[in-house]
Amino acid sequence: MQIAKRMDNVQRSYIREILKVTARPDIISFAGGLPHPDSFPVQGVAEAAAAVLAESGSEALQYSTTEGYLPLREWISARYARQGIEVSPDEILITTGSQQALDLVAKTTIDRGAPVVIERPGYLGAIQCFSFYGAQFRTVDLTPLGVDVEALRREAKGARLFYAVPSFQNPSGITYDEPTRREVAAIMAETGCMLVEDNPYGELRFMGTPVAPIRKWAESPSVLLGSFSKVVSPGLRIGWACAPAELMRHMVTAKQASDLHTPMFTQRLLHRFLVDNDVDEHIASIRKRYGAQRQCMMDAIRKHFPECVTVTEPEGGMFLWCGLPEGVTSEHLFHKAIERKVAFVPGCPFYVDGTDTGFRLNFSNASQDDIVEGIARLGACLTEELAR
Ligand SMILES: Cc1ncc(COP(=O)(O)O)c(C=O)c1O
Repeated sequence: MQIAKRMDNVQRSYIREILKVTARPDIISFAGGLPHPDSFPVQGVAEAAAAVLAESGSEALQYSTTEGYLPLREWISARYARQGIEVSPDEILITTGSQQALDLVAKTTIDRGAPVVIERPGYLGAIQCFSFYGAQFRTVDLTPLGVDVEALRREAKGARLFYAVPSFQNPSGITYDEPTRREVAAIMAETGCMLVEDNPYGELRFMGTPVAPIRKWAESPSVLLGSFSKVVSPGLRIGWACAPAELMRHMVTAKQASDLHTPMFTQRLLHRFLVDNDVDEHIASIRKRYGAQRQCMMDAIRKHFPECVTVTEPEGGMFLWCGLPEGVTSEHLFHKAIERKVAFVPGCPFYVDGTDTGFRLNFSNASQDDIVEGIARLGACLTEELAR
C-alpha cells in the first residue's frame, strides 16, 4: 500500500488522540471542546424530527442540492441582518460542520507552498486542514485586544489568506475589540490578503459589549464561517460558509466531490427546530450556564494556581488559556496531571513552530463540582512542577 505524499505534513488531531485518554470516566477533563451535555435541546429536536418525517419525509430522505436547504440559508441570512450584516442566501453554502467549510476554503484557495497567515496560538483544526494543502504558515501573535495589527500588516503582504477566530478564540478565549476589527478589515484591503473569519462562538457572549463580525467593516472580499455546533448541537454537523460568488462556485464543485451535499434530513430538522422554538431563549440559557462555569473556573484558578501562571479572561465562548513561566513545559505538566486524573490540552499543537508556553482549559463541559476539584488538582501539579 502506498500513502500519498500529502499526508507527510499532516499531524493526526492531537485533541482526538488526547480525548482517547481523557474519555476515561475517572478523569476530570478540561481537554475537549465539548458543549455541556445538558445544553442540548433533546425534546425540541425530537419534535422537529417527527414533524419533518410526518410532513416532508420523502424530501428529507432524498438527495438534494449541494448549496443546502434554502429556508435554512434564509434563516441564517435573516439572523446576520439583525447584526447589520448583509449576506444574501445565495452567498451561503451549508456545510457538514464549519470544519468542512474550512476544508473547502483551503482546498479551493491554497496551492502547495502558498503563504497563509494564522493566529499564534491558533485553532489546531485549521492548522491540520491547511497542512493538507501544503500551506506555508506565517503567524501573528495575539494581544489581549486581538491580533497584533502591525505584525499582521507585515505578514499579510503576499499571503493567500488570513485565518482568524476574532470572538472568544480557540484556544486563547481572546476577543478582538472593534478598533482592531476595523484595522484588520483595512489591512486586508490594503494588502489584498483574503480574510477567512471563523465565528462558531460569536453568540456565546456572557459578559462585556457585543461586537459584530469583522465582515461588517470589510472593504474587500472575505469569507465568513458559522456553525450550529455550539448553539444547538455538534452532532447534527451543520455549519456554513458565506463566500464571494466566484469562490462559492469553486467551493460548491469541491463539496460535490467530497460529499454531494450535507444530509437533507438534518438540515430540515434543524430548520424546523429553529422556527418552532425560541432560539434566543435557548442560547441565553447556554450563555448563562457557561458564564457561571467560567466564573467558577476563574475563582478556583485564583485560589489554587501559583501567581506566576497567567490566565486570559474570556467574555464568552468555551476556553481560557494559561501561560506558564519560562522553563516549565505544558507537555510535562500534562503527564503529571493525568496521574492525578485531570486533563487539559498542552500548548504545543496550537503552534506551528513547536512552542510550548501554555495550555488550554475548556470550561463548558465539566460540572461546577468537577471544575473546583479539577482546578485544585491542577494547582497542586503546577506548584510541584514550579518547585522542580
Ligand atoms: C474555531 C473553530 N472552528 C471550527 C470548528 C469546527 O466546528 P464544527 O465543524 O463542529 O462546526 C471548531 C470546533 O471546535 C472551532 O473551535
